[in-house]
Amino acid sequence: MTDSALKLRFGLVGLGGAALQMLPSLIAHPGVTLAACADPNPQARERFAEDFGARAYDRAEAMYEDRDVDAVYIATPHGMHRSHVVAAAESGKHIIVEKPMALSLEDCDAMIEATERNGVRLVVGHTHSFDPPIRLMRALIRSGEFGQLAMINNFSYGNFLFRPRRPEELNTQAGGGIIYNQVPHQVDVARLLGGGMIRSVRSMAWQLDPERPTEGSHMTFLQFESGATASLVYSGYDYFDSDELHGWVGELGEERQPGTQGSARAALAGKSAEEESSMKRSRSYSAKPNLVPPKHPPHCGITIATCSGGDIRTSVDGVTVYGPEGIEEHVAPAGRAFPDKQAVIDELLESVIGNHEPVHNARWGKATMEASLAVLESARTQQEIILRHQVPVND
Ligand SMILES: NC(=O)c1ccc[n+]([C@@H]2O[C@H](COP(=O)([O-])OP(=O)(O)OC[C@H]3O[C@@H](n4cnc5c(N)ncnc54)[C@H](O)[C@@H]3O)[C@@H](O)[C@H]2O)c1
Repeated sequence: MTDSALKLRFGLVGLGGAALQMLPSLIAHPGVTLAACADPNPQARERFAEDFGARAYDRAEAMYEDRDVDAVYIATPHGMHRSHVVAAAESGKHIIVEKPMALSLEDCDAMIEATERNGVRLVVGHTHSFDPPIRLMRALIRSGEFGQLAMINNFSYGNFLFRPRRPEELNTQAGGGIIYNQVPHQVDVARLLGGGMIRSVRSMAWQLDPERPTEGSHMTFLQFESGATASLVYSGYDYFDSDELHGWVGELGEERQPGTQGSARAALAGKSAEEESSMKRSRSYSAKPNLVPPKHPPHCGITIATCSGGDIRTSVDGVTVYGPEGIEEHVAPAGRAFPDKQAVIDELLESVIGNHEPVHNARWGKATMEASLAVLESARTQQEIILRHQVPVND
């Protein structure tokens, strides 16, 4: 860390779609300096280095030897998260790793072991549990003002399965489909609101399009140790879009045109796997983003918490509370950049400065993966799955 002002010098590992979404929050964060990047794609890394006066490496491991990098943001394909995290920890770097944390609980264990042994902090993010309205909802639930939490309901419908993909993103075993990509968002939201400790998972999941043979829909019931429950529903086939019920504000907080359902499906029609992969590759880093303040917070569909003394629902700019005294709107704090992912960076920085574990640490990430993988297992066996690796919210 630089001595002066508690700034972390960050290196980015992977300059694809996820990094493009995190970059505005990194640039706008007063506690961050962009020091380096690593990506096998020479155009992306060289352009990044030029735009930010940063050092460029073709491999993560080479960047980890850079002593002027304090922390890394790992946004490589899921199958690489384990090796990239373990090597970063061995080099003494603090870490943000994108969701899903890893492909298996064994991978998560290796990541926990490496980060704890090396005394580095790790945050698994971004997930939508960092969204300001979800944090506001958690604060209201925890305040006790609304009594006992009984039910959490999160549902989201959109075009997830019809966004351009690499072939492995359509293969469940390789981390494709909603189980590894969308369910962790929903589970993380439910766990943050419900206290973290899921007792059991019952689910059904579907592959509804033979051309895209991975799970695109699920319906899941979570029971928490506390007795609270959550229902999670996701469908990504580009038919109904739940942004219609959220003021046509999209997942990142962007304002959308009504009536665009079906356009992702249409854009892929007739494309070969190679053409589709190249559409995905075209979303790599190519220019410094224009920083604009966020219009609305990000979200993952509609979330409603039912307590004994009222319902709390996510709204376009925060949460709406339906209590005994009537309906009240609470606006969430505005972010510094669009899309607003600054809470992920805040959590890492605070944990490094305060020398404490972040909420979304490696054990938390493993617990979220355990529940996400249980969705698949329950759907396969048609049984309720009892969980064993849950941890409470540590705040
Ligand atoms: N939190 C979110 O909302 C969100 C959104 C999108 C993606 N993600 C996650 O981010 C991760 C990356 O997804 P993506 O959509 O950006 O993929 P992507 O294919 O767009 O980007 C991956 C990048 O990693 C680079 N890369 C590959 N091998 C590498 C290596 N050995 N070292 C360094 N870089 C390497 C690629 O060249 C590419 O630039 C996934 O785990 C995904 O789940 C999260």
